[in-house]
Amino acid sequence: MKINSAEFVISNSDVAKCPKEFLPEYAFIGRSNVGKSSLINMITGHKSLAKTSGKPGKTQLINHFKINGNWFLVDLPGYGYARVSKKTKSVFQQFITDYFEKRQQLVCGFVLIDIRHEPQKIDLEFMEWLGESEIPFCIIFTKADKIGKTKIASHVAEYRKQMLLNHWEEMPQHFITSSENGFGKDELLAYIDGLNQD
Ligand code: GTP
Ligand code: MG
Repeated sequence: MKINSAEFVISNSDVAKCPKEFLPEYAFIGRSNVGKSSLINMITGHKSLAKTSGKPGKTQLINHFKINGNWFLVDLPGYGYARVSKKTKSVFQQFITDYFEKRQQLVCGFVLIDIRHEPQKIDLEFMEWLGESEIPFCIIFTKADKIGKTKIASHVAEYRKQMLLNHWEEMPQHFITSSENGFGKDELLAYIDGLNQD
């Protein structure tokens, strides 16, 4: 799929105020700093459509971007950032979980995971919650430019092992990406295109 247009529509912290249009929607979620906003810019080919930062906690709201006039990409705040106050943190978590539970247009959530790290409890727990809530999701491993191919393969294998230990029957559909060099873009867009056709 070719991206012909990508426009920012609205930011808010209330799922009830998200766009009313019933278009297929895909949301990026994951730990702060994992590269959610950068990946939106990479796949749309717009350098600064979504705001990014070297410091975690940059995205604080639900951000809707309309793509090709007929589907939405959603950038969400990260979870697991210790330096936001407890109160702010619980607000983040409430509206993030509200978003996933209530947004009927959501076709698939993409859980972003930094390919460099060992499986983290918070990500496994979040995926467990998605599974229990019957919310469809895929995994996107990010920052693949930061490690070599052999390590990428062994880190993905480690993830698979951890998920099977966590009672998953199989590893969810997953993608390997780099917003630095564009790796994984075509595969991810082709997958979304397939879901848009269903
Ligand atoms: P929050 O909004 O704070 O939750 O973060 P985020 O997940 O949106 O991360 P963001 O896209 O702002 O990126 C965080 C940092 O990681 C930035 O310094 C990016 O340049 C860097 N980054 C993101 N993706 C990649 C990648 O694929 N490769 C490399 N090398 N750096 C990346
Ligand atoms: Mg962000």
